[in-house]
Amino acid sequence: MGKRLEGRRALITGASRGIGRAIAEEYAREGADLFLVATGLKQLEATRDAALQHGGKVEIHAADVSDRDAVEGMIAACIDRIGGMDVLVNNAGIYKAARFVDYTPEDFDTVMQVNTYSVFHAMQFALRHMKAAGRGKIVNVASTAGKWESMNQGIYNTSKHAVVGMTRCAALEHARDHITINAICPGFVETDMIDQFSVHAELNGITPEAMQKALVDRVPIGRMLQPVEIAHLAVYLGCSESDGMTGQTITISGGMRMG
Ligand SMILES: NC(=O)c1ccc[n+]([C@@H]2O[C@H](COP(=O)([O-])OP(=O)(O)OC[C@H]3O[C@@H](n4cnc5c(N)ncnc54)[C@H](OP(=O)(O)O)[C@@H]3O)[C@@H](O)[C@H]2O)c1
Repeated sequence: MGKRLEGRRALITGASRGIGRAIAEEYAREGADLFLVATGLKQLEATRDAALQHGGKVEIHAADVSDRDAVEGMIAACIDRIGGMDVLVNNAGIYKAARFVDYTPEDFDTVMQVNTYSVFHAMQFALRHMKAAGRGKIVNVASTAGKWESMNQGIYNTSKHAVVGMTRCAALEHARDHITINAICPGFVETDMIDQFSVHAELNGITPEAMQKALVDRVPIGRMLQPVEIAHLAVYLGCSESDGMTGQTITISGGMRMG
């Protein structure tokens, strides 16, 4: 079998660390040319160096994805510097845990801007480009928090539910345009973001170690996922193998809530 993303040009946000970095490396391994985005260039250099080992073109770009003008500029720069954008992976995100009644309006704005408005802005500009190009694929990294309720992270869940909603609606509107739009909904993945679960330990009056154990105990396979496991699904959704799938929000959670 040839490389599954050969000839595809992919823009990946939040590519400096965690899940985004793993997606960048797997996309590079599968032959894609890459345009990698995070808030700072310095943070992206290690991902670029790892991706370049696979021989494709890799460009890095600093942008705050919550800023609509920056997102428009990011997509224009991608098309200019790697020759197009066949796949958009909206992965950048932030997490904020608190009791629902303790969140501030500023918390709500910040989380919604980075997790939700970013996806709205990027999908709008990308869809205009992909429609004109006659094909495209969008992969949104949502969360199981976009499908379920959770304790003490209500604003985060709200931001991800909106991503799930946008994924389905945009997919329906563009189903005849040879554009697929799907979301990945990971459970617990071992990245920097999961370190912020220490706030849950404080809220529950337990140690961070006990909190970590409580999380893992909820996962039927008995461990957190690794970023590369999410990246494998992102490869499938970015390549032609998934052409018959659109508007789906795929849970990858180690078996939490089967079905
Ligand atoms: N880890 C989990 O358990 C888990 C579970 C479900 C869903 N997710 C989702 O998966 C995605 C990736 O999470 P992760 O765990 O890999 O998190 P992470 O390790 O904290 O990485 C987050 C990435 O997003 C970037 N980013 C944050 N704010 C940004 C902004 N305003 N503009 C541009 N880039 C920005 C960061 O770049 P900088 O270097 O610029 O900070 C970084 O590359 C997120 O959408 C998250 O909600 C994670």
